[in-house]
Parts: sequence; structure tokens; C-alpha cells
Amino acid sequence: MVAARLRDPVMIPALRNRLKRVVPLVAVVRVVRALATPLGRGWLRAGRAGAGLFQPATVTRLDRHPPLFAVVTARLADRAAPRLLSFGCSTGEEAVTLARYLPHARIDAIDANPACIVRARHTAARLAPRPASGRIDFACADTPDALVVRRQGAPGNDARNDAGDYGAEGYDAVFCLSVLRHGDLDVLRPEACTGLLPFARFAAAVAALDRCVAPGGMLILWGCHFRFTDTATASRYRVIATPGARPQPGPFYGPDDRMLPEGAYAAFVFVKDAAVTAGTIAA
Ligand SMILES: C[S@@+](CC[C@H](N)C(=O)[O-])C[C@H]1O[C@@H](n2cnc3c(N)ncnc32)[C@H](O)[C@@H]1O
Repeated sequence: MVAARLRDPVMIPALRNRLKRVVPLVAVVRVVRALATPLGRGWLRAGRAGAGLFQPATVTRLDRHPPLFAVVTARLADRAAPRLLSFGCSTGEEAVTLARYLPHARIDAIDANPACIVRARHTAARLAPRPASGRIDFACADTPDALVVRRQGAPGNDARNDAGDYGAEGYDAVFCLSVLRHGDLDVLRPEACTGLLPFARFAAAVAALDRCVAPGGMLILWGCHFRFTDTATASRYRVIATPGARPQPGPFYGPDDRMLPEGAYAAFVFVKDAAVTAGTIAA
């Protein structure tokens, strides 16, 4: 009976509308649930410290996106020691996965949630191929502007150029998977995303990610509630096909924060033009 009612196409939107009316209740439940776990408490601590947070959930697993990892691995096959960034690494499984695909990579992995980083170091110690755990550096940070992680111990040694980016010192691949999103947009599907996660924050985040990508490097975006191709940053990139990758389900929101009619998006791996540096294309 209940199952039949849930299959009724009228029921789902009705339930959702009811949910929208109890948004404050949803927020209270989220805080109470967060307080119940160390990762949740870490998230609240990050928020109180003023971190610019996106997706609060820390859900992750090993080898979550094989088609994406395979495409990136193939493109970096001839690099002796590719430099990778896992932005929003949660409890470290993504960084360990990258170390398994690319055993010679130097990997920086950052997350805004301090409890995630504590757990991520344990994850790497347990699961990363030896001696690859030594090549993963974890740090608690809320921006991708973290090449400094690799230069820990050398404060002030900031390789940024006049345009504010890292140029050839940047990463060969920056992974930002299931970070530039908010779970409540999935659940509530509001007509406008402004209150939860406005497009402007997405655009600013990808511009910051772009500054860390070396010319000719890759930016890998999955699980966003926005389309990279709607941003000015995308004009420096071209899309690489990812055979076997499942299209990412919506909802998606446009530059005006309104929900787009498109229900799926299938562009995930973007290669930065080798000839341009930040500042040569109007942002
Ligand atoms: C759903 S997990 C994604 C984990 C992993 N990337 C994956 O795809 O399996 C989202 C993670 O993004 C982190 N996060 C959210 N906003 C962030 C920010 N501004 N800077 C760094 N990490 C952030 C959260 O703490 C959380 O661990």
C-alpha cells in the first residue's frame, strides 16, 4: 500500500512540497545527526571556524568512479611523477584510490573537515600501496589553493605567478568529486539554489581550482549541481570523453540560480589549454 502510493507520480512532488515546508526541521535534524558522529562534529567545528563549506556529507568509498580514474591514468601514463590534488578528500579513500591507479604520483589531499583528515591519515596508512602512503600529504583546508601543502616546512615559498596561479608548478590533475553540491538540493529540489549554494560560489570555486591546474593539466568535476561549461573558467578547457561513465543526475542550476530543465550532465574530465595562463582569457 505504502509502496504503491510512493510509486504514484503525484506523490513524490507532493511529499517534496511537504518537506520544503519543514526545512527548518530538516536543518535541526541535520545538526542533531551531525553531533552524533565524530565526522559530523568535525563538520560543525569547520563551520564555526568560518570555513567556506559545500557538501556536508562525507560519504565516499574506494574506486568510486573507475571510468574517470581510467581516463586520467591513461593520459598521465608517460609522466614519471604526476602531481595530483584531491579536493574534498573526505576520509581518504579517493587519495588511496589515486595512489593505486598511479603509484608514482605525488598526491595532496585536502578537506575542510578536520575529523576527515584525522581519519584519512589512518585510511592511507592501512590501505595505500607501500610505499605510496608516504606520497600522500593530507591537510585540512577549505580552498584548493593549497600547493603549500607540498611545501610544508617552507613557509613563504609560494610559487604563484603574477596572474595569481601556479602555472607549470600546478597539478597535472585536480579531482573535485561530489564536493561542489549540497545534499538538500537533491532532497528538496528548490526552484532556486540561492539559499543553499548559489552558482556564484560554484563559479568562484572552479576559478580557484583552475589556478591550481598546470597548463595542459586536467580538472575532474563530478557530482556538482552546476555545469562547468556555464562558467567563464571553462573557456580555458576542452572536454575529454569518458567512456563508461554514468551521466550525473540533477538537479542542475544555471548562472541565475534557477533550476535547469536538463536532468543529467555527462562532461566530467576537462583539459586545460596548454597555451593559456590565467588572466589571458577574460574571466
Ligand atoms: C561527499 S564527500 C566527497 C568525497 C570524495 N571526494 C568522493 O567523491 O568520494 C564531500 C567532502 O567535501 C568536503 N568539503 C565540503 N566543502 C569543502 C571545502 N570548501 N573545502 C574542502 N573540502 C570540502 C566535505 O567535508 C566532505 O568530506
